[in-house]
Amino acid sequence: MFKWTIALLLVGVGLGVAIYPTLAQQEPVPTAEIMKKKLEYSQKLLEALTLNDLDKVVAEAGNLIQVRKEAGFRAIKTPEYEMFADDFQRAADAMVKAAKDKNLETAKLHYLGMTLSCFNCHAYVRDVRKRG
Ligand code: HEC
Repeated sequence: MFKWTIALLLVGVGLGVAIYPTLAQQEPVPTAEIMKKKLEYSQKLLEALTLNDLDKVVAEAGNLIQVRKEAGFRAIKTPEYEMFADDFQRAADAMVKAAKDKNLETAKLHYLGMTLSCFNCHAYVRDVRKRG
């Protein structure tokens, strides 16, 4: 009887170890709200850049960087996804720095880089979803 209890315990622990990583990976899927915010902030950024309003560029890029930090943004846990998220982060950081340095031209270039990261990541996500 004692042996069976131990055996059952071991099976239980084994199952737990096997299942846990799958459960732990199930983070909240990005809500439509987070995504809409992304679009809204990047549209406002474009507006601020075209109007040469660098304080607003700093503010809106800061908002975007906040969105990136929300759990829902990390929709897929792969190194590739992280790479696109990092590209996005780097471009947004560089844009903030350029805007703070009152360097409009450089800020515009980083806006383009950031927008590319939007497209690249979405293309990747679509690709992964198709395969999965
Ligand atoms: C690192 C990855 C990544 C980056 C970078 C990224 N997104 Fe997304 N985006 C996602 C994912 C994941 C979804 C959800 C796709 C799905 O669930 O089908 C999404 C969805 C969206 C949606 C659709 C929302 C809806 O209601 O369906 C919009 C709009 C959007 N993103 C805007 C942007 C903009 C604008 C940028 C750049 C400023 C950006 N995203 C950058 C990963 C990313």
